[in-house]
Amino acid sequence: MAYAAFRSIGAYVPSKILTNEDLSTMVDTTDEWITKRTGIKERHIAAENEFTSDMGTFAAELAIERSGIAKGDIDMVICATISPDYFCMPSTATIIATKLGLGNVTSFDISAACTGFVYILSIAKAFIESGMKKNILIIGAEKLSAITDYTDRSTCILFGDGAGAAVISATENKDEAIIDVHTGSDGAYADLLMTPNGGSGSTHDSLSQEASSCFMQMKGNETFKVAVRTLTKDVVEILQENNIQSSQIKHFVPHQANYRIIKAVGDALKLKDEQVVLTVEKYGNTSGASIPMAINDIYEQGTLKKGELMLLDAFGGGLTWGSALVPFSPLK
Ligand code: ACO
Repeated sequence: MAYAAFRSIGAYVPSKILTNEDLSTMVDTTDEWITKRTGIKERHIAAENEFTSDMGTFAAELAIERSGIAKGDIDMVICATISPDYFCMPSTATIIATKLGLGNVTSFDISAACTGFVYILSIAKAFIESGMKKNILIIGAEKLSAITDYTDRSTCILFGDGAGAAVISATENKDEAIIDVHTGSDGAYADLLMTPNGGSGSTHDSLSQEASSCFMQMKGNETFKVAVRTLTKDVVEILQENNIQSSQIKHFVPHQANYRIIKAVGDALKLKDEQVVLTVEKYGNTSGASIPMAINDIYEQGTLKKGELMLLDAFGGGLTWGSALVPFSPLK
């Protein structure tokens, strides 16, 4: 049987920084409020002519180079994004595959908001274990600044741009294999976090007025409570089902939405500070890109080593959630 191994990681962070001080000149907020409620100090914002696919391509180039797998051997590209280059088509994955020169590979996007990276990890794992594909490039890429309302202080302080990518490939060595991936959703909570306008629910008349209003809206406080409850339950379950103690986790890599959410889940698992990966302070919430960007940070700091176990954990619009137990298994 083929198993799926997490081979490599890469990321891209746009150069422009938007600080809490900058935001306090745009909306009625303060550095103190944002820091205390979210842990965020700054976020990166893509240039106007920098697309989600451009950031995804940079991250993917790095991930492929670090994987030791030839570009010609990549047989599938999946991109998780809620801020695609184009509203309906073509998919951002298809554009990235072409920018990378990957030829006629299977490529598609998925929409699971901040849980997107865990969802594409589960899809890659399933395709590899079924024997249908061998080397899959997965990318979380977001230009959330394009769908953020910079007059709404309750959301604009949260989001940033960036991309992360990983190569998942087939192995016969079970010790290298991704252990498990959980995913779930509940559309009953759809209205907690959504872009209400511009889809097939909009009339043609309203579409022209709404063209500039495909912005995210969030009931932050209600989302916060569901996030803490759901994330904690999900990580406890995945550890129990796989008979793994939280002390065996080397790196807990949660979706970076809010420091207080991460702290609550970390405390529930009795994790030590050094087990918890935190990037929310410098990148804010980059939705589907946040987990691979955080993994890339520990990789580039030299703290992610071969064989170490990561616990991934995410929650986002939909509502969606997911977790994964992933040993880092580079080829080189
Ligand atoms: N600056 C100053 N005051 C503010 C700001 C701001 N930027 N934003 C809101 N406030 C005010 C509110 O108006 C409110 O004032 P009131 O008490 O007079 O009514 C007060 O601060 C408290 O507001 P809350 O919304 O209750 O603040 P809370 O502590 O819940 O923090 C936050 C808000 C940061 C959004 C938090 O609820 C959160 O992180 N929610 C979860 C986000 C999340 O996990 N989303 C899912 C992933 S995102 C995705 O999928 C794309």
